[in-house]
Amino acid sequence: MKRYFVAPGRINIIGEHTDYNEGFVMPAAIDKYVLLSIEKNGNGRIHLSSMGREPVSFEESVIEKTGDWSDYLKGIIWILKNKLDAKFGGMDIDIRSSLPEGAGLSSSAALEVALIVALNSVFDLKLSETQLYNYAQEAENDFVGVKCGIMDQFTAVMGRRNKAIFLDTLKMQYEYVPLELGNYTLLVFDSKVHHSLSRGAYNSRREEARKALEILGRSSYREVSMVDLFPNRGKMGDLYYRRALHVVSENMRVLESMKILSNSNFENLGRLLIQSHESLALDYEVTCEETDFIVDTLREMKGVSGARMIGAGFGGSVLALCEKTEEKKIVEVVKTRYKEKFAIDIDCYEVRPSDGAREVEASFPL
Ligand code: GLA
Repeated sequence: MKRYFVAPGRINIIGEHTDYNEGFVMPAAIDKYVLLSIEKNGNGRIHLSSMGREPVSFEESVIEKTGDWSDYLKGIIWILKNKLDAKFGGMDIDIRSSLPEGAGLSSSAALEVALIVALNSVFDLKLSETQLYNYAQEAENDFVGVKCGIMDQFTAVMGRRNKAIFLDTLKMQYEYVPLELGNYTLLVFDSKVHHSLSRGAYNSRREEARKALEILGRSSYREVSMVDLFPNRGKMGDLYYRRALHVVSENMRVLESMKILSNSNFENLGRLLIQSHESLALDYEVTCEETDFIVDTLREMKGVSGARMIGAGFGGSVLALCEKTEEKKIVEVVKTRYKEKFAIDIDCYEVRPSDGAREVEASFPL
């Protein structure tokens, strides 16, 4: 019998490049999904297919990385074999998706989580929510080779309708934050650029942030405040100083955003989004000309509270917090200016905070 599972993409309201630095994040799952169908085949082979791509097929006992989309799925099978010595006896898996790839909306975590949730249910593995997101992250770290933090896999599992999630990645404590947007809306502008350096640069940012901490003689960013940074500027050198400055200031912005959201002050939240973008651009250096251009265009416009790049960066998407009444105008202007400047048709859509991964009917509207 074929069964169907979805896992959502995510936005991140604020808290970028903080999850692997023992910091705070505030993501939300969105109503764009990976939809996976799964059926046991009993022949010991795993068949993967996805929307017109070259299908991939292999013996369940021999899992090898091939450097393509199938690695995210293979990584999950690999981790479950390692952790649980799981045997599935072969299966056919097909993927469909409404989640753009390389857009900074975490389509890779959605793929991983859709599969681990499906296997957990179909094979009755009895994994807890914590194991689901931790194993999915481990698969990405150790099989795919991207040293990502926990934010994306966590959100794909734990997302809730109309809520963002405040997560302390050190203690792994979280709290759902109501996102009652009223007259406001969240728009995603997909720059359609994905700079190929992104994987390597992501891992090297991670190393730089670690090195900055070492120079400071601390073992966690939770022991570092602005007051510790300023006097150590000379000793740290400009690059490491700026990397640490982003982490420490971004954590402060997440905490501030929590307060602001509790009284629905979206104008002030918007200001923090802009500050976050500037810090990501100047200090952490993970933005690019295209995403900077989108944010610069947006921040001049009536009805925009704020905007910033989301996800790993080096392309991808910009999240904007806008007044609903101005939405049409805002989208039109950004589209036109972006096309004039880069000769690329940008994609833009409204996103709604949504539930995490789950089983669905075959007719699930993607
Ligand atoms: C990617 C990673 C996350 C996080 C963000 C940056 O999406 O998968 O763990 O580090 O980049 O905030």
